[in-house]
Amino acid sequence: MDEKKVMLSGIQPSGDLHLGNYLGPLRHWPEMIEEFDCYFFMADLHTITVRQDPAQLRRRVLTQVAQYIACGLDPEKCTIFIQSHVPAHAQLGWVLDCYTMFGELSRMTQFKDKAAKHKDNINAGLFTYPALMAADILLYQPDFVPVGDDQRQHVEICRDIAERFNGIYGEVFKVPQPHIAKVGARIMSLNDPQSKMSKSNPEGCVFLMERPEDILRKFKRAVTDSDTQRCVRYDPETKPGVSNLVQIYAAATGKSFEAIEAEFEGKGYGAFKPAVGEAVVETLRPIREETERLLADKGYLEGVYRTGAERAERVANRTLRKVYKKIGFVPR
Ligand code: TYM
Repeated sequence: MDEKKVMLSGIQPSGDLHLGNYLGPLRHWPEMIEEFDCYFFMADLHTITVRQDPAQLRRRVLTQVAQYIACGLDPEKCTIFIQSHVPAHAQLGWVLDCYTMFGELSRMTQFKDKAAKHKDNINAGLFTYPALMAADILLYQPDFVPVGDDQRQHVEICRDIAERFNGIYGEVFKVPQPHIAKVGARIMSLNDPQSKMSKSNPEGCVFLMERPEDILRKFKRAVTDSDTQRCVRYDPETKPGVSNLVQIYAAATGKSFEAIEAEFEGKGYGAFKPAVGEAVVETLRPIREETERLLADKGYLEGVYRTGAERAERVANRTLRKVYKKIGFVPR
């Protein structure tokens, strides 16, 4: 019998989940759990490269567990866990730090961006973060890593690290492929379509748990462009704002760009922007309601992440043992 292919991904609970996280990678995960052996985790170790409020961090991790399930990840069919519950991540992270070069880490765009944003706290963790992310991935020997476009570089460096390690010690790690969706891989900010949607600009960002009236308001105010014909067309070069909305509408409704252009032909932005807002509200409504229901059942959530950590740990420890042995550490 063919073994199922393995897939793994994670999201940092450094802010509340937003539409970019959802339309980029997360909405595709539920389709994958039928076909693949899937691991999805809360990347809490990664969040402390930037200072976190402890109570907020705890709240966000638990909310994120509930949101994963509410988005359609059935915990019976995939492994959902919290990164810090599986010590092998930090352990392999250290090992891979020693097989990752200063020069390659210096080229990471996310490091450069974050270092510029948090000038008073450019810590070593922020710099070596991609080695920890490589450990997250390689522990589970996945075939695919579904992420948004902004994480492509980190998956690439993970492949380089794996190949370097395999080159020294033999085939220890499977070298994974990034899996990046065609539509939604880079959702841009609603009020600044040149930057990706991110929690650091809340007015341009739609959060999964946000109230419908706030979501609609943000879409009504979304920056479009000064095209006098105000036509709805997908053309990211000359119409970044409108193209972003077309992309969001396509991802939320499953319609093609051509169908959307035809639907709004001659109608202008006045009709289009609220329609995108409504589509997003309706997409997020069931997720928000189910998340709220699950959050009221702490016992259930605890069961999910405990079982998940046990399953994840078995797989992760197997890889870690192999790595330790190859390196030459004496077994306990
Ligand atoms: P993070 O937490 O920043 O983002 C989580 C996922 O959401 C995607 N994403 C977006 N996609 C489309 N448009 C956007 N505006 C947008 N913003 C974010 C990201 O590409 C990502 O897929 N380092 C990772 C977390 C991580 C990880 C891993 C991922 C840690 N270990 C192992 C995969 C495998 C991160 O910071 O993503």
